[in-house]
Amino acid sequence: MTGRDVEQRFVDILTAVKASVPIPVALKTGPFFSAFGNMARRLDEAGADALVLFNRFYQPDFDLDRLEVVPNLELSTPSEIRLPLLWIAVLAGRIKASLAATTGVRSGVEVVKYLLAGADAVMSTSAVLDHGPAHLGPSTPPSGSTTSKPRSSTSMSIVSTIRSSTPRPIAFNMIPPPRSSSTITSRLRSRRPARCSS
Ligand SMILES: Cc1cc2nc3c(=O)[nH]c(=O)nc-3n(C[C@H](O)[C@H](O)[C@H](O)COP(=O)(O)O)c2cc1C
Repeated sequence: MTGRDVEQRFVDILTAVKASVPIPVALKTGPFFSAFGNMARRLDEAGADALVLFNRFYQPDFDLDRLEVVPNLELSTPSEIRLPLLWIAVLAGRIKASLAATTGVRSGVEVVKYLLAGADAVMSTSAVLDHGPAHLGPSTPPSGSTTSKPRSSTSMSIVSTIRSSTPRPIAFNMIPPPRSSSTITSRLRSRRPARCSS
């Protein structure tokens, strides 16, 4: 099967599912296409209501002492957000489908980054497996609370402030035309709410 065949199979399956169900269809995909931007556009044109970027496939290791395949699962780390972050920034505003981010979300910091890139939704699995559902934290502090906010709560407040004052995802404006990283940094800072001190 060629790469072209694989891509066409994605489109065909999506088209068949769309024709069969009345509800919105989100398609979760890996990044391993020769031209992911083109693939995203084809899925968009085939009617995907959302793209979920990216699936994180099981990747077995080798145990050299036992000479065995080790099929265990390594949970993700925040450093893995960069590939989906890049593609969400590239695609946001350029396709009709909504964009959901998955991979590497360990705290509110990654949520903020994905939302700034233009994600409509952000998902977390590894962190919840490690720490349990309570790790997601409350979206608002309990009324009358005098303790400092959990990080996720603070981050979500920052995001809602940024989103309400920014009509388009900030990162959408990063490509093109190319800008220096210092220009991008000052653009991000200009949208930072005053209460965010670091
Ligand atoms: C134990 C486990 C089971 C998973 N099962 C599925 C699944 O059935 N379908 C799916 O689309 N993704 C599945 N995933 C992938 C997660 O939904 C998620 O996309 C991936 O783990 C990256 O997010 P994370 O970095 O927050 O873990 C699974 C992940 C784990 C760790």
